[in-house]
Amino acid sequence: MKSATFFTIDWRDGAVVMIDQRALPTREIYRTYTDYRSVARAITDMVIRGAPAIGVAAAMGIALGARQLKRSAEPAVFARICQVFAATRPTAVNLFWAIDRMRRRYEKVRAKGREALIEALEQEALKIYQEDITANQRIGRHGAKLIPKGATVLTHCNAGALATAGYGTALGVIRAAWEQGKNISVFVPETRPYLQGARLTAWELVREGIPATLITDNMIGHFMQKGAIDCVIVGTDRTAANGDVANKIGTYTSAVLAGRHKLPFYVAAPTTSIDLDCPSGKKIPIEERSAQEVTHVLRQQIAPSEIAVAHPAFDVTPHRLVSAIITEKGIARGPYSQSLPKFVKRKR
Ligand code: MRU
Repeated sequence: MKSATFFTIDWRDGAVVMIDQRALPTREIYRTYTDYRSVARAITDMVIRGAPAIGVAAAMGIALGARQLKRSAEPAVFARICQVFAATRPTAVNLFWAIDRMRRRYEKVRAKGREALIEALEQEALKIYQEDITANQRIGRHGAKLIPKGATVLTHCNAGALATAGYGTALGVIRAAWEQGKNISVFVPETRPYLQGARLTAWELVREGIPATLITDNMIGHFMQKGAIDCVIVGTDRTAANGDVANKIGTYTSAVLAGRHKLPFYVAAPTTSIDLDCPSGKKIPIEERSAQEVTHVLRQQIAPSEIAVAHPAFDVTPHRLVSAIITEKGIARGPYSQSLPKFVKRKR
């Protein structure tokens, strides 16, 4: 959301502007992009991250790319622009949803000439941006009903304003509950290896004045055992038709622990994150990121260079561990293969 103090991404005078999330929480730097390839690189390099936010960035990037088309009837060039975005990150389905939507708009208006096309694609990207904020606010309203007064909520990674066009999904629910005066507090796991919890979620919560405690990822079981956590709420990069949820690595561990301690485990999922064409979590492509993000913390080496490293960036939480999926259209409960199609259409 464009709050008085920061915004995640914006379209300004034919350029894309983003806060550089790599520099947070210590420095607030805004970067301006006028070339579609540099927007794609910003997604790969984590200047912007979070499933809905990278969908919006891709849409705006494609709108920028359209300005570089010489004639509107250049389907091969347009296809290549879309391809550059599709190759940035594999797990979040929002990215592919946004590319598809821009492609459909392109097909509809390309016969009208270059100027009309540029205008139409810019408007479509802005619509995607605006719809994301509205969806998140609705998710917030639906989800807040599930959060009891005075609850302590555990989240994971960053599913906040920084991961979306604004307001956030999981953090949107937390925000809405807070705005309703529910007097909640939040446990924020740091989210190794990329530290989205420590660097981004903690930053957002401190700015909002929502009481929050930063913990390391391996403290979650301890605090659940002590009765310090009442429920868990996370975002998702892709939720399959059966309700299996891909989200930041470590989410599955929280879900197992929540199950063990009989705590509700909620997923905040805009319908743009739900992929009914993907039958189960087994089919979700899991991004493998660099070894260096594991062997180094903030550029400081913490492991021997020779060590073998595994770095899946996401894991899959089976649907049986998910108490509810909160969408902008309402709350889905299991069996998800029956409840999700009430909110989302299949593509094919
Ligand atoms: O690798 P990241 O930072 O893009 O991963 C982000 C997450 O895992 C979020 O939880 C998810 O995208 C949902 S954001 C509303």
